[in-house]
Amino acid sequence: MAKAKSRYVCNNCGIVSSTKMGICTGCKKFGTLEEEVIQSASSLSTPSNNRYSAMTKLSARTQKLGDVKTGNYQRQSTGINEFDRALGGGLVKGSVSLLGGAPGIGKSTLLLQSIVKIAENETVLYISGEESSEQIAMRGYRMGYTQEQLNRVNIMGEIELEKILDEIDALKPRYVIIDSIQTLFSNLLTSAPGSVSQVKEVATRLARHAKSEDVDMLIICHITKDGDLAGPRALEHIVDTVLVFEGDENNYYRMIRAQKNRFGAVNEIGMFCMTETGLEEVSDAGAMFLDNVSGMAGSAIYVTQEGNRSIMVEIQALLDPTNSPTPIKRAVGVDQNRMQMICAILNKYASIKVYEHNVFLTLIGGMKFSDTGIDLPSILAMVSSFQDTPLPKGLASFGEIGLTGELRNVQRSESRIKEADRLGFSRIIVPKLDPKVRKSLGKLNIKIEEATDVIDALNIAFK
Ligand code: TYD
Ligand code: MG
Repeated sequence: MAKAKSRYVCNNCGIVSSTKMGICTGCKKFGTLEEEVIQSASSLSTPSNNRYSAMTKLSARTQKLGDVKTGNYQRQSTGINEFDRALGGGLVKGSVSLLGGAPGIGKSTLLLQSIVKIAENETVLYISGEESSEQIAMRGYRMGYTQEQLNRVNIMGEIELEKILDEIDALKPRYVIIDSIQTLFSNLLTSAPGSVSQVKEVATRLARHAKSEDVDMLIICHITKDGDLAGPRALEHIVDTVLVFEGDENNYYRMIRAQKNRFGAVNEIGMFCMTETGLEEVSDAGAMFLDNVSGMAGSAIYVTQEGNRSIMVEIQALLDPTNSPTPIKRAVGVDQNRMQMICAILNKYASIKVYEHNVFLTLIGGMKFSDTGIDLPSILAMVSSFQDTPLPKGLASFGEIGLTGELRNVQRSESRIKEADRLGFSRIIVPKLDPKVRKSLGKLNIKIEEATDVIDALNIAFK
């Protein structure tokens, strides 16, 4: 192919320039010019030349929506149950998924485990731009795979997109892993690998190839310090599924969650723990964080809900008196804004002078859950620390708190209560339940204590 020309387009005002400039001459904004490949109109009209021709199965004429032929998605298991669960039941044929996560969290490990499993029945290809083939083979042997198992995996150490696409055409794999998108470059552009224009170009062409050749593609993508998928969020609309691998890398537990999924729900999570021989699936997720609960003043047990799963986590608070005019308020694993709100509620309704304390609030286990049911256990932990009184043993709770101090219900209360009951908790404080929910719970060993507001909940917990 003749080398294509490129140009620079301002993504703010749209001005076109033939050279790269720091400041746009049109809108005077800094760093808004992005490289783009120039395509002539004639090349766009022939599908084989158009780089974007097969992004979707387009139809030439309008038709009635109800008449559009549909079929069930063909799903293929990733070979790992928890991974399938996060994907909504497995990989869809011809789909492109992005796997994001901080360096060292275990992305390469997870995908190696999955590719070795899929290789038992399908042709697979592992593209590594980050580590050498030797490093990956060593990892495979360390994880306990035999030479025979590893021989089924085709590996290619390459970072030039055009060569990778040629190899995919020659090998015709069913499953391709790209590790990672930030290392690849297209020779149509002059910018460096990892730059916004390269990452977008590479992702778009990989996606096009996956759709037209019915390849399942999993693309590893690094996450920036702020937790965004590195490079552009612009990638997210190019792919079908965006998965995020979370957890504290110094910690044992890992969680995979879909942020976007064109083929399924986004609330299911997959749970793993990192062992010496790779990632192990967690079978009893509900109890996984309950190993070393402190039971001291400042500790409370919270029942959260992720998709169909209830998980019990310890939350710890420390209220440390201070004379500082600007006390510290720090939250780990809990949303900082929620914590500020909880402090204000404690101040107003429980008459605890939170502003005279440094306040720390931590969710144990290195995880982050976005559930609002965390409000009540947070308050219980904070009051327990303030009074230097441990909460009663075997007590769990959940519930959202409104700005007027009232307790509000959260989704799937019944599932949370049942999980606390299953794990042998003796009491649970919850917001007022719907009579139907109460009835559907039937007879349980756990004592369910409904509270209407913060004061009510504190009275129940510390009576
Ligand atoms: P890796 O998959 O290389 O992370 P990523 O691709 O997300 O950067 O995993 C890196 C970490 O995982 C590394 O610090 C070592 C640890 N690890 C284990 O604890 N056990 C194992 O079996 C493997 C392969 C890695
Ligand atoms: Mg890696």
